[in-house]
Amino acid sequence: VVMRASALARSNIALVKYWGKRDATLNLPAAGSISMTLDGLETRTTVEFGPWERDSVFINDEALEGKGLAKISKFLDLVRPGTLCADVRSTNSFPTAAGLASSASGFAALALAASQAAGLELTPQELSVLARRGSGSAARSIVGGFAIWHEGQKSDGTDSFAEELVPAEHWDLRCVVLVTRKGPKDVPSTEGMNHTMETSPFYAEWLNTVRRDMDGAKEAVFEKDFVRLAEISEGSCLAMHASAMAARPAVIYWNARTLELIHEVRRLRVQGKACFFTIDAGPHVKVFTTAEDLDGVKAYFQDHPSVEDLLVAKPGQGAELL
Ligand code: DP6
Repeated sequence: VVMRASALARSNIALVKYWGKRDATLNLPAAGSISMTLDGLETRTTVEFGPWERDSVFINDEALEGKGLAKISKFLDLVRPGTLCADVRSTNSFPTAAGLASSASGFAALALAASQAAGLELTPQELSVLARRGSGSAARSIVGGFAIWHEGQKSDGTDSFAEELVPAEHWDLRCVVLVTRKGPKDVPSTEGMNHTMETSPFYAEWLNTVRRDMDGAKEAVFEKDFVRLAEISEGSCLAMHASAMAARPAVIYWNARTLELIHEVRRLRVQGKACFFTIDAGPHVKVFTTAEDLDGVKAYFQDHPSVEDLLVAKPGQGAELL
């Protein structure tokens, strides 16, 4: 028997953010979150299990060593048949230099390829739970279109998985990724959220915003209410960053260009374009817009002095076997 499988998964961007864990080992979130899966920002991964002495992992043809390899090996332990080791080959379609998070698409593709190679037939829910163990946001990349990741109640994490709210075809939104500068290395999201949770005086209030925002964001997605989603999503992003900025010492992901682009999005909106911004654990700005206003938004930012690179994504499908 050949114990080998390949899978593809796409990145996702949260509209209601995940920022903090109630269980760091199982990656159980302190609250739920909602995201859009991004077409075109993909990871393709092949996993083969065999009687080798150690796991080997290549990302974009480069061998992974040290902590990165140890993290993947620990993840593979969750599905590994007996004492077999894995050969993992993974490629990202998007520029890694852009500093765009690839852990979501990476662990979603790895969860699907590794479980299939190991001969496990997981349900979509079990697959989302497995991907979550690699990286929280990866739970959402198992699902296509717009995803909701449930906070869950159980301590074993079996009820904390992502589900599709609506398929990709439901709403033709576009996400324009504005890459600012490659600055100093960002604080990894795991570290940033743990530190915020431990030291920020605003952390409890951040969690209250999520509990208030979840239902509204869900409705806005169902009803394709752009204005409402814009309000909730920008609010969720800013509340998350405010909680991180108030941590001691502060976690500040923005650079000068990030703030400049926030103001530009607000100006563009006053000019009548449908747009809103969101920012994750880094300095890049993601601008959501409609298919109708995409050209205008793109033209506005294409040659902007604060934009180093620009990518456009529409809603994408969930993880798939190749
Ligand atoms: C700001 O999923 O990367 O992008 O679970 O520790 O791997 P770990 O964190 P990760 O955090 C994502 C944080 C975020 C918000 C979001 O995607 O919801």
